[in-house]
Amino acid sequence: MKMTNETALITGSTSGIGKKLAELFLREGCKVAICSRNKDNVNKTLSEFQSIFGDSVIGDVCDVSDPSDLKKFVKKTIDAFGSVRILVANAGLSLSYGPFHFLSLEKAFSESNITINTNLIGTITSISSVLPQMRAQKYGRIITLSGGGAERPLEHMTIYSASKGGILAFTRCLSKELENEKEDIKINIFNPGITKTNLSDASKVIKEWRDEKEFKKEFDLILKHIASDIEKSCSKVIPFVLPTCKDNGKSFRGFSIIKLINGFRKVNKIKKKLNH
Ligand SMILES: NC(=O)c1ccc[n+]([C@@H]2O[C@H](COP(=O)([O-])OP(=O)(O)OC[C@H]3O[C@@H](n4cnc5c(N)ncnc54)[C@H](OP(=O)(O)O)[C@@H]3O)[C@@H](O)[C@H]2O)c1
Repeated sequence: MKMTNETALITGSTSGIGKKLAELFLREGCKVAICSRNKDNVNKTLSEFQSIFGDSVIGDVCDVSDPSDLKKFVKKTIDAFGSVRILVANAGLSLSYGPFHFLSLEKAFSESNITINTNLIGTITSISSVLPQMRAQKYGRIITLSGGGAERPLEHMTIYSASKGGILAFTRCLSKELENEKEDIKINIFNPGITKTNLSDASKVIKEWRDEKEFKKEFDLILKHIASDIEKSCSKVIPFVLPTCKDNGKSFRGFSIIKLINGFRKVNKIKKKLNH
């Protein structure tokens, strides 16, 4: 077990990637605080984990777009575990999928507000809520979440991509500041690659653009041949949250580029065959 002296707070950890990271950290002996917006999701995940890992896990409702929730949750974690040595600012969402011009001005405004508030501002404030304690203990490991469109242009997820591009810039800039400080605090950014979770759901397709059923067939094909193995992908995070991690401001992937390229080739071949 590599993480017996560690304490971690993972935002958005009642499903998908955050939940898998919580499970992997707990298996390594780490104490983990889990949260999300929905009380039922928190209670269900908490009792699932507590039945295996006992009091190594705590949880509560915490909406990362609400600074007072973050303040309370960080305090609760420190009261229970004595510290937060690791933060994974994972909470994130993606709304409509499709060309940007299909969104009305009102829809573009409301979707940007929700997405930027959760993904970008939620990441910034999650970090802000643990940093004083990390500086006081002169130690911390922070992981932020990259995603579609952050590193290179990607169509059909423009608002989500903008939020992830912001996270990438914030992470890199903060890493520069941390580099100049004497505390051992490192921040790195994880790109899990396309992963089958609630976030990657075909029902988010803009119906005026594509028929949902037709789109789902194509999307399932992509998930089948291209999606990352969630456990393999998330296990790549562990070296970046250990005291031995020397990286700072680094983007790292949970997937192999070669597998991704081969996967897309396969999908295109199948699509061509189906169209003939
Ligand atoms: N899936 C992919 O293909 C993919 C690829 C690259 C990057 N990512 C990134 O990975 C991260 C996790 O996504 P996922 O795919 O695992 O999605 P997911 O299965 O939908 O999980 C998202 C988690 O975040 C919680 N959440 C949402 N909004 C929140 C908020 N405002 N405050 C606190 N918790 C909140 C959700 O629970 P509640 O609904 O109960 O709040 C849930 O536990 C995101 O940052 C995403 O952008 C995903």
